[in-house]
Amino acid sequence: MGWVQNKQLQKGKYTIEGILRKGRFGITYLATDQKGDRVVIKTPDADSLSPDELKRWQEKFVQEAFKLAKCTHPHIVRLLQDPFQEDGLWCIAMEYVDGVDLADRAKNILTEPEALKYIQQIGEALKVVHKNELIHRDIKPANIMIRNGAAVLIDFGLARDVKSRKLSVSDVEQEAEKGFTAPELYSDILELGAYTDVYSLAATLYNLLTGKTPPSAKDRQIHDTLVAPKGYNPQISDNINNAIIKGMNVLPRDRPQSIDEWFNDIEFPISTRKTKFTKENISFWLGVAGFIVAVIAIFTGIFQNDLREYILKFFSRPQPTAPKNTIQK
Ligand SMILES: Nc1ncnc2c1ncn2[C@@H]1O[C@H](COP(=O)(O)OP(=O)(O)O)[C@@H](O)[C@H]1O
Ligand SMILES: [Mg+2]
Repeated sequence: MGWVQNKQLQKGKYTIEGILRKGRFGITYLATDQKGDRVVIKTPDADSLSPDELKRWQEKFVQEAFKLAKCTHPHIVRLLQDPFQEDGLWCIAMEYVDGVDLADRAKNILTEPEALKYIQQIGEALKVVHKNELIHRDIKPANIMIRNGAAVLIDFGLARDVKSRKLSVSDVEQEAEKGFTAPELYSDILELGAYTDVYSLAATLYNLLTGKTPPSAKDRQIHDTLVAPKGYNPQISDNINNAIIKGMNVLPRDRPQSIDEWFNDIEFPISTRKTKFTKENISFWLGVAGFIVAVIAIFTGIFQNDLREYILKFFSRPQPTAPKNTIQK
C-alpha cells in the first residue's frame, strides 16, 4: 500500500505528502522537512516485490544513494543525507526539483538551441559521473528535470561502476526504456564505458528534436530502421543531425568514446570548448604573444624616455627662493 499522507519518517524529520511516481519496483514520494520545504524520498515498493527481490532492491537503493553522493554538480540532483531505514525499507532523501521532467515537457519538439542547452548541461553532469568511474546507464527524458530553464539529472538507480556489471541484462530490459538504451547494455560480453551514456544522450537529443522515441538498439542490430532526425524535422541542422547519428552508432567502438569527444562534433550555441594548443594553432598563439610583448616593450620604452626627460627637466629648473616672511631660525 506504501506510505500515506502525514506518515512521519526519521522521527518527524520528514512528513510524506503524497506519491510523485510509482515505478515498477520503487516509489518516489513528495515529502516536507521540518521547515516545511519540499523534499523527495525514494524507496523500494515492498508490495510489488517478493522477499528475495526486496532484498536485492534494498541493496540497489543503498547503492544508488552512494553513487549519487559521489557526484556533486549543479546539474545533478542533490542528496540530503546518507540513506536511512524506515519500516525496514531503505530510503533516499534528496532535494525537490521544482519543475517538470523532459518526458512530460509541454512542447513535443524543442528548438535546437533549447535542446542543445539541456544536452550540454547533462553532458557536463555526466563528465563528473564518468570521472567518478560510474556510468549512469539510464539517460532519457524522464530522468532529466527542468528547473528555471536548467536541466538536472536524476535517477541513479541503474548507475554502476565502470568495471562491475552486477545488474543482469534482464534487469536492464525490465527497467530501462527501449530506444534510449545502448546495445551493449543488452549484452553479457560487450564492455560498458562512457560511450554507453553517449548513446543514450544522443538518443535523448533525437527525442527532444523530433518528438519520436528512436527504435530499440536491440532491434537496430538486426535491422536498422533508424530514421535520420532530419527526416522528421527538416529544421535540424546538418551538424546536429550527423552528431546524433554518430552518437547513436550501434557499434560501441565506432561511437564517440566520451562526452568530450562527442561534444567536439557539436556546434553549441554557447561554446564550452577550451582552447587547445594544437600544432595547428600554436604558431598563431606564439605570434599573438610576440605582438603583445612588442607592444608592451614599445610603450614601456616611450614611457621610460618621457619619464627620464621629465625628471631631468624638473631637477634642472631653478629652485624657488624662500618667501621673505619665512621665519629663519
Ligand atoms: N528530486 C526530484 N524532484 C522532483 N521530482 C522528482 C525528483 N526525483 C524524481 N522525480 C519525479 O519522479 C519521477 C520518478 O523518479 P525516478 O528517480 O526517475 O524513479 P524511477 O526509478 O521510478 O524511474 C521522475 O521522472 C520525476 O518526474
Ligand atoms: Mg526514472
